[in-house]
Amino acid sequence: MALSVLSSYAATLGRLQGKARLRSLSPRQGVDFTSNDFLALANAPRLKDAVRCAMERGVPVGATGSRLLRGNHQEHEALEAEAAEFFGAERVLYFGSGYAANSALFSTLPQRGDLIVHDALIHASVHEGIAGSKSTAVGAPHNDADAFDDAIERWRKKGGRGHPWIAVESLYSMDGDRAPLSALADVADRHNGFLVIDEAHATGVFGNGGKGLAADLEGRENVIVLHTCGKAFGVSGALLAVPGVLADYLVNRARAFIYSTAPSPLMAAGVRESLRILRDEPERRTALERLVVLLGARLESQFGIAPSRSQIQPILIGDNARAVRIAEALQADGFDIRAIRPPTVPEGTARLRLSVTLNADWSDITVMLDCLAAAMKEHSR
Ligand SMILES: Cc1ncc(COP(=O)(O)O)c(C=O)c1O
Repeated sequence: MALSVLSSYAATLGRLQGKARLRSLSPRQGVDFTSNDFLALANAPRLKDAVRCAMERGVPVGATGSRLLRGNHQEHEALEAEAAEFFGAERVLYFGSGYAANSALFSTLPQRGDLIVHDALIHASVHEGIAGSKSTAVGAPHNDADAFDDAIERWRKKGGRGHPWIAVESLYSMDGDRAPLSALADVADRHNGFLVIDEAHATGVFGNGGKGLAADLEGRENVIVLHTCGKAFGVSGALLAVPGVLADYLVNRARAFIYSTAPSPLMAAGVRESLRILRDEPERRTALERLVVLLGARLESQFGIAPSRSQIQPILIGDNARAVRIAEALQADGFDIRAIRPPTVPEGTARLRLSVTLNADWSDITVMLDCLAAAMKEHSR
């Protein structure tokens, strides 16, 4: 009998299971050490009220079409204008997600003959954009500004004549460490190139007023910054801050922008309120910063782990199956902590990704750390 049309898919899943890499969906439960709701805005009454008020003043749930057709709503435009002012950018475009924004940006702006040099740990959505790009791309070792410089030099020596594009995250999503942004900006300037900074995990948390780690660079002609809205902002979508000419270019050429229903205008209203909350409630950032410092000190003293100095703290385990066992033990203790495995992180670096948010307080953190110590001891191999 012929093999089932599904057999190769089932075999792949079986192989993933064998490597402790099978993923499945699980319900949201336990104290939050996993989400990116860093400032606890997703459930903030003020944000919910803003969305409710928007509904009451007639803002529709669905956009009804592409931004280029009838989907363009004044909430989108108001958000883009307010965000441009907030971040000090010439123009901002609101996308339905950070994934779509990165995909659109990298598949549209770098041209044939250009070179994209991306950090080795760059997010999957940048790879997605690169896959659709006509330019060539190379990876550079993580956070090594000289290696970016060398890669561009080599390309120029071989006759590369276009523009280089440097792609980095300001705060890395799985390691919580920061990119050397000013050195990278120098490299971009020196080579007449662009610097693209994904602020997904820094927006709302770092920088003056929560403007991100790239706040000082934003607004430059050769700097593009992505601020996602599903993390510290507690909503969804992404704000791509670009020079005006590139905003117009994306509106004309980015397939993910043109051939897609616009984001919900209600979400745009929500993001507008998040911007106001950032301005009015700096105490949220201060409270998060305090938890990060306290956690860092305990990790160092109790576990000998170097603190990341950000709200994302990896606990490196290495082995996939062990990481899963420790995460499961912590889940059984009432904590939502997940094992992050390849291919999300490099082979051999499975980890627990601790996310510090205002959804957990210091007493939750101390109990969790005691449970973590016990789980690591129980599952020592
Ligand atoms: C660095 C980075 N960029 C982009 C994205 C995608 O953003 P979104 O979740 O809005 O699609 C993520 C999400 O995990 C991310 O971590």
